[in-house]
Amino acid sequence: MTHADRHTAHHGIDHGTHHAPRPVADSHDQAELLDLDAEVLAEHIAAITTWLPVGAAPQEIVDLGCGTGTGTFALLGRFPEAHVTAVDSSAEHLHRLREKARAEGVQERVRTVQADLDAADWPGLGTPGLVWASASMHHMADPDRALRRVHDLLAPGGLFAVVELAGFPRFLPEGAPEERPGLEDRCHAATDRFHAEHVSHRGADWGPMLTAAGFAVEGERTVAVNIEDSPDGAVGRYALATLRGIRGAAASELPHEDLAALDRLLDTDGPHSVLRRTDLVVRTERSVWAARRTN
Ligand SMILES: C[S@@+](CC[C@H](N)C(=O)[O-])C[C@H]1O[C@@H](n2cnc3c(N)ncnc32)[C@H](O)[C@@H]1O
Repeated sequence: MTHADRHTAHHGIDHGTHHAPRPVADSHDQAELLDLDAEVLAEHIAAITTWLPVGAAPQEIVDLGCGTGTGTFALLGRFPEAHVTAVDSSAEHLHRLREKARAEGVQERVRTVQADLDAADWPGLGTPGLVWASASMHHMADPDRALRRVHDLLAPGGLFAVVELAGFPRFLPEGAPEERPGLEDRCHAATDRFHAEHVSHRGADWGPMLTAAGFAVEGERTVAVNIEDSPDGAVGRYALATLRGIRGAAASELPHEDLAALDRLLDTDGPHSVLRRTDLVVRTERSVWAARRTN
C-alpha cells in the first residue's frame, strides 16, 4: 500500500517567478487546511474512531502531532468520559486547539503539551489507554524510535492508532482545467517527488514497523473518501487551501504554463478561481493501523 503526504506547510518553498496570490504555505495556511480537513472529512474520521478495537473505553488518550485538534475532538466525542493530552511542536496550532476546546466547552477534558517529539526525551504524557497519531508519525526523524516510545508510554493492553493519508486530496474532474488538462496529476507527481526527498517516511507500511516496535497489529483499514461539494462551499475552500499547499511544494518542479494555470485557480478574484467551480469532488484515502501493547 502506498501513502503520500499532502501536508507541506513546514516544508513550504516557492520558486515561482511571477505574481501569485498567497503562494507560500505557512503555519497559518496549514492550520486552515487542517481545520477544513476536519470539517469536510468529519464523518470519515468519526468512522475511523468508531472502528478502533479499543476494548474498554480509554480514560486517558494522547494525540501525538495533534495539529489543530481534528483527532482530539473526534476522540472526545467518541469517548465521552476520556481526557485527551494533545501534543504538538506548534504553539500556534495548540493555541487554536485550546480556543476550540473553550468554544465547545470541553476545555476541562483537554491538556495541551508543546513538545518536539524528535527530542531525546518526551515530557510526561501520563499512562494512556489509547494513543492516536494522525498524519504525524511520518514526520518523525526516527519513526522506529518514536514507535518504541509510544509502546513504552501506553498502558499495558493499550492501543496505538496510526492514521496516514493518501497524499493531497484531488478535486478537479478529468480534463480540467480546460486550458491545462492533467494539471492536477502533474502537481501531484511534483509534490510526490518533493516529499520523497523531504519526508522520507511518507508512504511507509506501518504494520511491520509497529510489529518491530513490539506491538501486536490487530487491524488495518483503508477508508476511501469521495465527497461532492456542499452548499456551504467547504469543498471549494478545502480545494483552495490544498492547492496552495501543493503550490508550496511543487512550484519549482512545474512548467511555467502549469504554474500560471495553478495560479489562476488560486486567484480568488479571478474568473478561473477554484472557488467558482461547481464540479469539485474530494477524492482521497485514509489508512489506519490499530496496534496493541500486549505486555
Ligand atoms: C499533517 S499535520 C496533522 C495534524 C493532525 N494530527 C491532523 O490529523 O489533522 C502534522 C502535525 O505534526 C506536527 N509535528 C510534526 N513534527 C513534529 C514533531 N517533531 N514534534 C511534534 N509535532 C510535530 C506538526 O506541527 C503538525 O501539526
